[in-house]
Amino acid sequence: MCGIIGILGKADVTSVLVEALRRLEYRGYDSAGVAVVSDGTLARRRAVGKLSELEAVLEATPISGKSGIGHTRWATHGAPNEANAHPHRAGPVAVVHNGIIENFQALRAELVAKGRVFTSETDTEVVAQLCADYLAQGLSPQAAVAQSLARFEGAFALAYLFDGEDDLMIGARRGSPLALGHGEGEMYLGSDAMALAPVTNRITYLEEGDWVVLSRAGGQIYDALGNAVSRAETVVNLDAMQVDKGNHRHFMTKEIFEQPSVMALAMSHYLTSDHNQITVPEGAPDFTKFDRLVLVACGTAFYACHVAKYWFEQVAGVPVEIDVASEFRYRAPPIGPRDAVILVSQSGETADTLAALRYVKGKAGQVIAVINAPESSIAREADLALPIKAGVEVSVASSKAFTCQLTVFAALAILAARQRGLLDAAAEKAMIEVLVQAPRVLDEALKAEPQMAEAARELAKARDILFLGRGPLYPLALEGALKLKELSYIHAEGYASGELKHGPIALIDESVPVICFAPVDDLFDKTVSNMQEVMARGGKVLLVSDAEGIKRAGEGTWATIELPACDPFIAPMVYAIPAQLLAYHTATEKGTDVDQPRNLAKSVTVE
Ligand code: M6R
Repeated sequence: MCGIIGILGKADVTSVLVEALRRLEYRGYDSAGVAVVSDGTLARRRAVGKLSELEAVLEATPISGKSGIGHTRWATHGAPNEANAHPHRAGPVAVVHNGIIENFQALRAELVAKGRVFTSETDTEVVAQLCADYLAQGLSPQAAVAQSLARFEGAFALAYLFDGEDDLMIGARRGSPLALGHGEGEMYLGSDAMALAPVTNRITYLEEGDWVVLSRAGGQIYDALGNAVSRAETVVNLDAMQVDKGNHRHFMTKEIFEQPSVMALAMSHYLTSDHNQITVPEGAPDFTKFDRLVLVACGTAFYACHVAKYWFEQVAGVPVEIDVASEFRYRAPPIGPRDAVILVSQSGETADTLAALRYVKGKAGQVIAVINAPESSIAREADLALPIKAGVEVSVASSKAFTCQLTVFAALAILAARQRGLLDAAAEKAMIEVLVQAPRVLDEALKAEPQMAEAARELAKARDILFLGRGPLYPLALEGALKLKELSYIHAEGYASGELKHGPIALIDESVPVICFAPVDDLFDKTVSNMQEVMARGGKVLLVSDAEGIKRAGEGTWATIELPACDPFIAPMVYAIPAQLLAYHTATEKGTDVDQPRNLAKSVTVE
């Protein structure tokens, strides 16, 4: 999940490399580096930490060249120090890499036995060393790369640069994405089109196993067997790639506050303009043909699946299985033609989710992606890609992608209910009327931000925090805990309210805040009983409900947050706001790095 960039340009590319890396920093920010061919010779600069550290190094010791590669790292093998930072260099070759070379130890031992001296602990260095070894045997750069690629096991996107070769760059992909950018007398490589947005919108996505030899005049792509192939060039919509914070201090708040508008946009994609019916996207599933839905994702996207399980089962009567992709892919679950599998991913590049997709392809009746990045690997490999229309999500902690994923799932659940004869036209219209209220109700919920900021001042002092929810609000408790952990580094757990007394209640004392998500629904009184059990043991309850719920719950809570009343169907969307803003304000109270929390990366392209 590192970001890579390569440029064969007409003028000095150093600052363009750094600008591209800024757009890739969401992939990792443990270290960054660039290498350029300067007067025919490779020169490189690397720095530990955020890109600003590399910029400082480049300012102190500038380099320049018209050909260059760059990298922003999320450490897998070896600590985040300068020696392990990319580009890695061995003699006349420099390399940047995203992925993991799984057989690096065997290759390293082989190369060390031949006298090669390694200077890092990374898996990547073998890529540079092996290539240098082949070059030393007299192979051309192209042949050296081709021979090397055949030796690697694992996943990689690679960009190679060579001493003395001002008009040559070689890229390769297997398991990790790599895009080729076309300019006027310039050529580019990038982990994604977003990195290349300031320089070109003409993109060719390399396919699995492809590698490419670039000069400023163009690129020749080869497939995994070494056959010359051509791949389509697409023009990407750069407007969709605008990335700025607007008036917000952080991308995270910008994205949280964008939710009503992006959800409305997502809805317009799945509803007829008169809001009478769910539109059936071309190739959309016929839910009468499936006995079961299997929903697979990671992290926040998985919690969207968890909410969707309640909706599909309750609204459409479809049995649903859910799993996190990292477990699903290895447990060899039986999947057949009467199963539809839905993979959910904001980035569309999450390695485990992509592997789960490849596992079900050819087994399931239909493989559907619910996706934010339309050009991503998961979108391209699924039978059908359903866009969530959230727009670029920059903050590492996911927010608007979650509510847009829920929007798409809500529409699909209504569609499934209609197809399966559980909703007539009037009932479908009534459900849609509820759904289209969601953006407005979220807008109202955002007005409760000051209450959340105030509660966060107290939460920031806690060591452990519990979140409780029932029914479709249980996944929101899990999401609230995940958001709080990743943003504020406070230990937090989400539990189904009724499960608390089966063990976790032992954790309760006056130092552990317990946040209860309790919309007024069929389960409200049961949730309040669980809340009373906590308070009876000295627990500090923060109740999140609407005015009626707060009144009905009575005395004894430590604090309350009042959200607008809403139909229970859309409550999981509305309660996403406190899940996100409580974490956000707790983090700002603690002074953590909200948009780029420690140890994380936005796009998890390694398993
Ligand atoms: O891009 P994806 O939706 O596939 O990413 C899945 C998770 O990595 C992601 O949701 C992660 O859990 C976020 N940091 C949560 O805020």
